[in-house]
Amino acid sequence: MKGLILSGGAGTRLRPITHTSAKQLVPIANKPILFYGIEAMAAAGISEIGIVIGETGEEIMNAVGDGWQFGVNVTYIQQDAPLGLAHCVLIAQDFLGNQDFVMYLGDNMLQQGLTDFVERFEGSHQAHPQLGEPAPAGPAAQVLLTHVENPSSFGVAVLDEYGEIVQLVEKPKDPPSDLALVGVYLFTPHIHTAVESIQPSPRGELEITDAIQWLVDNGHRVTHDILTGWWIDTGKKDPLLDCNRLVLETIEPRNDGTVDDLSQVIGRVVIGDGARLVNSTVRGPVIIGAGTVLENSYVGPFTSIAADCVILDAEIEHSVVLERCQISGVPRLQDSLLGRDTIVTRSTGIPSATRLLLGDHSHVEIQ
Ligand code: DAU
Repeated sequence: MKGLILSGGAGTRLRPITHTSAKQLVPIANKPILFYGIEAMAAAGISEIGIVIGETGEEIMNAVGDGWQFGVNVTYIQQDAPLGLAHCVLIAQDFLGNQDFVMYLGDNMLQQGLTDFVERFEGSHQAHPQLGEPAPAGPAAQVLLTHVENPSSFGVAVLDEYGEIVQLVEKPKDPPSDLALVGVYLFTPHIHTAVESIQPSPRGELEITDAIQWLVDNGHRVTHDILTGWWIDTGKKDPLLDCNRLVLETIEPRNDGTVDDLSQVIGRVVIGDGARLVNSTVRGPVIIGAGTVLENSYVGPFTSIAADCVILDAEIEHSVVLERCQISGVPRLQDSLLGRDTIVTRSTGIPSATRLLLGDHSHVEIQ
């Protein structure tokens, strides 16, 4: 079985963070979201992975490389425009060949691994009959579903009384059920005929939901699993902070930096290589990146601070801070996501005022 990870598309929903970088590389607990997906595939025994890339492709290639660091082989597949999830399958046909594959949306995070999901599919699909017996009809696809409160934001599935999928609709205004499609799909090569047979949706994309509907309409079985554990489509700030919180709850404490006598580290805290705590308090779960300096500061629960940041005379909690940020003289920052090289400082000029230099689509709440 091969793997296909979708990391193209334009990250409009996380602007301005993803104006300059891929949304799949935004870190959760200081590790890019995309890496969790690659690791889950590697753990499920999948070693040949195709990654669909778009305009942020170079950055993704720089981060992932040839896959060696994950013990897998990565092939990049360039998508010239974000023409839909089924379009990704279409352009990956050469890479996928005649094999089954798991497709994973690069901005999704799942608590549950892929191993059980993949094994169940392989088992049902590869069951070969005894000589002379008719072949059992294995499913052509298997999807992962979960109950959600806002089904109109997702692909939605309808099951019949036997639990079989009969309908799939992409982001319906009037959702026929509350069962959303999670961004992990298992396909046999039948999907290639499906993606070639469908037309673009009203939003101009070749929808994977339409391709799966095509399978159902053409007599193929599509099975499903109900997700266990949490799942987050991380494209927006608040789900991203939630996801960061959930992952930080599982970290193992470790100190590769230095903590002076006036500092206090409470609870589960990871301190990266060469990071320094000077007269500061950190209350976990927290992760502090390599080379970051905290001085006369407080970092509270559920905060990830990436590498090479400086936090001076400041307090921060329940936030994600990307590389090389400087935060100084700020009494309380919380529920925040700061992009790379951001500077947040206390106004010292006269007249005292709030002075901002913000990118397009920024969001600021002033107390
Ligand atoms: O998150 C689950 C949902 O993901 C499903 O419930 C929906 O049925 C499915 O269509 C998808 O909806 P999204 O609107 O969240 O998809 P998004 O545009 O965010 O794309 C998901 C990933 O695929 C993301 O990493 C970008 C990548 N992508 C997307 C498109 C449209 C590509 O690589 N190429 C594309 O053309």
